[in-house]
Amino acid sequence: LSAAERAAVRALWTKLGSNVGVYATEALERTFLAFPTTKTYFPHFDLTPGSAQVKAHGQKVADALTRAVAHLDDLPTALWALSDLHVRQLRVDPVNFKLLGHCLLVTLARHYPGDFSPAMHASLEKFLSHVILALAISYG
Ligand code: HEM
Repeated sequence: LSAAERAAVRALWTKLGSNVGVYATEALERTFLAFPTTKTYFPHFDLTPGSAQVKAHGQKVADALTRAVAHLDDLPTALWALSDLHVRQLRVDPVNFKLLGHCLLVTLARHYPGDFSPAMHASLEKFLSHVILALAISYG
């Protein structure tokens, strides 16, 4: 990411503040609705709208994304343990990362339309694609 792209992502994250969990939860809910095959990884979860389990999971995803924003220079190291978990233990097909990434983008565009310039859109696409690459790194 260029300096301007990093600045854009960091600025939006600062604006999100403590709401990152709320938006990550919405993104998860959208992912399960729009791409129902993603639900097969969560047979042990209550996936009904407003589920406390999805909300708690959304907060975990949000914390991981916030950690990623703080480590834009070295995402593979920052996300290595999560990659290992998703790839080796959970065996998540990496196509699913893109689906959640897409839903995160839609969610942020919906809640922050005024911030969602083409440049912001491009910066977030790049950030998410780097996160997704780092998560998929354990596939070797
Ligand atoms: C667990 C982050 C994408 C399936 C987790 C955890 C985090 C996380 C932080 C909790 C790890 C822990 O408890 O130590 C992310 C991020 C993603 C992503 C940042 C992409 C941006 C996905 C996708 C799927 C998935 C696309 C499947 C469709 C799971 C499952 C768990 C999990 C099944 C375990 C849930 C449980 O039993 O508590 N993820 N994840 N993840 N993730 Fe992901």
